[in-house]
Amino acid sequence: LQASTIEIGNHVFQKDDWSNVTPKILSYIKSEKHLQKHHPLSIIRKRIVEYFYNTYKNNRGTPLFSVYDQVSPVVSVHQNFDNLLIPAGHPSRAKSDCYYINKHYLLRAHTTAHQIEMIKSGLDNYIIVGEVYRRDEIDSTHYPVFHQLDAVRLIGKEKLFGNFLDLEIFENDFKSNPQKIQTIISNSKCIDQSKQPCHTLEAVKLTEHELKSVLVGLTQHLFGDNIEYRWVDTCFPFTQPSWELEIYHKGDWMEVLGCGIMRNEILLNSGVSNSIGFAFGLGLERLAMILFDIPDIRLFWSNDSGFLTQFNEEDNRPNKYKAISTFPQCSNDLSFWLPEGVEIDNFSPNDFYDIARGIGGDMIEQITLVDKFKHPKTGKSSLCFRIVYRHMEKTLTQAEVNETHGKIAKVVSESFNVVIR
Ligand code: PHE
Repeated sequence: LQASTIEIGNHVFQKDDWSNVTPKILSYIKSEKHLQKHHPLSIIRKRIVEYFYNTYKNNRGTPLFSVYDQVSPVVSVHQNFDNLLIPAGHPSRAKSDCYYINKHYLLRAHTTAHQIEMIKSGLDNYIIVGEVYRRDEIDSTHYPVFHQLDAVRLIGKEKLFGNFLDLEIFENDFKSNPQKIQTIISNSKCIDQSKQPCHTLEAVKLTEHELKSVLVGLTQHLFGDNIEYRWVDTCFPFTQPSWELEIYHKGDWMEVLGCGIMRNEILLNSGVSNSIGFAFGLGLERLAMILFDIPDIRLFWSNDSGFLTQFNEEDNRPNKYKAISTFPQCSNDLSFWLPEGVEIDNFSPNDFYDIARGIGGDMIEQITLVDKFKHPKTGKSSLCFRIVYRHMEKTLTQAEVNETHGKIAKVVSESFNVVIR
């Protein structure tokens, strides 16, 4: 019998047809890898926070930014999407991409979800760090839970322009009519990226300059002055203009963060009408994998002392990960017929990944959809997934793999009403 409620901490949530969070995923809440002493994610967090503490101080010499690193990941659909002007129907809201508790609540898909509540509480400069949850494919760089660090900085007229007090943050016709702000873009399309109509060009350019200098400074603080980087224009519904910072690593450009000038609607909705703001968000795993040469994202969840003792937060040398050992892979396919009338496109691979992950856990290294076809005579559709089993800490026996693979096949056939081939 399926329970009709989900309990998280002291809260009881009623399940509905949006609920798709699994017990396995719920078990990651409070894991706090970003706060675990000597853990690579914690080392990265500390170095970023330390950089911001040193870069921004008030006139009494104390850090300007406040840091929040234990905020619950349970957020409302409003916090994760509506507050950030993410339009209804935007692909990032899909049930196939997020872990919903029910139709009103989900596990945050980004730490940006906390912007309005943080600013409303009076913060002008803050950093928030925590784990985020996304349904995704399974391979060495994707894990359904990972960590982000987001920051916001609000800048008033005096701060921005110093003695040039005839300069303004807002265009005159906006000041006479603050309701005259742009209306929402249609779903998934990019808004014009030059600047928001309400802002003066000089305010935007000065803020952009500060934002980019600070983030390049952060990158150099983490990776050294010789790191190669480039800015790429992009779009987010909550910033305009928006950029991504990429760094060159082992022959590839890798995106390490997203940022931009905050949409003024968000500031107005948070009770701020006299400032311009910038925001950015970055993924801690991505940075730690580059800095420490960590090859597989599952290692961040390892409890093996052979992994954990390699890193030391007091040690400022960028120590590189040494493979604890490489255990053999074991690859098994699973093919099944979808129920009659169900088309391939109506089957979300993320549903399959979650079941497999719930049973196989971290002994699964990768899952790929290797084949799909529709039988010309019966009209039935068939899918084949290849599961690569490999444990980080031991050699798996064939018997162990077979047992897990068999369980996955059984649960998949029951849950989706499919027929294993
Ligand atoms: N939330 C964005 C992401 O998850 C990152 C971001 C944060 C971009 C803040 C701009 C401003 O990719």
